[in-house]
Parts: sequence; C-alpha cells; structure tokens
Amino acid sequence: MKYFLAVLKQDENTIRISKELSESLKIPLVDSIHNSKYCLKFKDGLLGIVSEEHKFFSFSYFDPKIERRFRSLSSKDLFVKALGKNKGLCFLDGTFGWGMDATVAHKLGMSVRGFEKNSILFEIIQKNLKMEKFDRKENFYLSHLDTIKDWKCIEAKVQEPFILYLDPMFVESAKSKASLSNKKLEFLKQLFNHQVLENHKSENKNSKPTIDEPMSWEDWVLFGMKVRRSNSYCKRLILKRSAKSRQPVKEMHSYMGKTVEYLVL
Ligand SMILES: C[S@@+](CC[C@H](N)C(=O)[O-])C[C@H]1O[C@@H](n2cnc3c(N)ncnc32)[C@H](O)[C@@H]1O
Repeated sequence: MKYFLAVLKQDENTIRISKELSESLKIPLVDSIHNSKYCLKFKDGLLGIVSEEHKFFSFSYFDPKIERRFRSLSSKDLFVKALGKNKGLCFLDGTFGWGMDATVAHKLGMSVRGFEKNSILFEIIQKNLKMEKFDRKENFYLSHLDTIKDWKCIEAKVQEPFILYLDPMFVESAKSKASLSNKKLEFLKQLFNHQVLENHKSENKNSKPTIDEPMSWEDWVLFGMKVRRSNSYCKRLILKRSAKSRQPVKEMHSYMGKTVEYLVL
C-alpha cells in the first residue's frame, strides 16, 4: 500500500499545510492521486482521507451527524447513562479514533483529553481543529500517544478527576467484517492495520512484514480496571464494545443496546 499526499486544490494555504503534513508524516507529496491506494485530500476546507472506493472520511467538530446525535440525546441514551452524574469530569478518551464520542462528550460540557496512536488520523484531526478555528481553550485536547505504552506519561499530566473511556471496538470485531455497520469505523480499521504494516516495513527492512495482533479485549479490560483501581483521579471506567460480545465482565455494570454495550466500573 502506498500513501500519497495529493494536493488537488492549489491555493497557497493548502500547499503550505500539505508540505507540513508531508514532512511530519514522511509521505511523498504529489499532484495527482494516480497509483495511490489512499490519499489525503482537502475538501470544503477540511483535511480528510479518500479510500479506494473514493469515499472521503474526515473529522469536523461541527459534523452534522455528530450534531444530530448530540441533539437527540436523552437521559435514556446509553452513552449518557454510562457517563452518569459525572459530566463535570474530564473525559479521558484512550482510543480517540474519529473523535465522535469525545466530541459528543465535549458538547455535553465535559473537558476532553484524547489519545490516538495512529499518526495519520492524529494529523487529520489536529489540522482540522486548527482550520475550523476551534478554540483550544475550550478544553478539547488531542495527543499523539499510545494510551497503553505511554500511560505513565499520560497519568503524570492528568491531575484532575476523569472518566477513562475506552472504545477499541473494531479490534474485537476485526474478524467479522459483516458485523461492522459503520463504514467510518471499518475504514479506521483498514487504516490502523495498514499503518502497522508500514511502520513494520520501515523498522524491519530485512524481515517479512506482518500485521501486529491488536490488543485483545481482555487486555483492554485488565488495563482499564488497573487504572480505575490504582489512580485516585479515575472516578469511572467506561468500556464500549459490540453488543454481540456476550462474554460478561464480572464487576462491571452493563448498559446494553441493540448494537453496542457500555460496561461501567
Ligand atoms: C473504534 S476506534 C474509536 C472510535 C471513537 N470512539 C469514535 O467515536 O470515533 C479505536 C481507535 O483507537 C485507536 N487505538 C487503538 N489502540 C490504541 C492505543 N493503544 N492508544 C491510542 N489509541 C489507540 C485506533 O487507532 C482507533 O483509531
């Protein structure tokens, strides 16, 4: 797979941002999407990534879909139930992804600290937050970190009561493609796997590249529980998973919906 950064709109601002991105992501800057499996693209003032099927995926804090989800939230909503009476706390999102859940939490009035390990996704979201002139003082921060490996560093920085939110959903549903109804998350899974492959290739030039096994659901549960028990700032742990995963998790309260389940401790 090859990533190219295609500059399709040749205005000065786009070229400047593209050059910056091309350097930070170490991917070549080209002026056509010819031959690239995925390409980064600016559309309507937002940076996004175009899939092989020519679908454009991006992040916007003002995404109408997120806005609709936020507006239709009621006390019966499972996400709201899982948050409980903790909306004054920081929403520490350890698996930020496209930031849909974190954005809803922020719109509900929570401060957000997001962590995402995929560098392409991180860059897209950072750029769009800047381009949308989103005021960072409004407590919406995203860092390019691995929540598990860099936990000690994260923990040292977050000195306020927080909810730890973990949604590694596509990891556990990775084997069953058909069960993934959300195309945006399905695409994220591809991006995640391909980036692991690319990283492996650049780090191990002589060995055969393989895709790392994603961390298992059980390991996410163990990680979350450990943080919940050992960090006095962690007031609640919320784990989101597919409603198809029937394995109960002792000690955790379940809010079960048709497609997703929120486990709370
Ligand atoms: C299912 S998505 C999260 C979707 C997100 N809740 C949303 O609303 O858009 C999972 C994300 O977690 C990220 N991820 C997986 N393991 C991670 C880790 N150890 N640290 C940080 N991010 C991680 C993946 O790159 C992926 O973007």
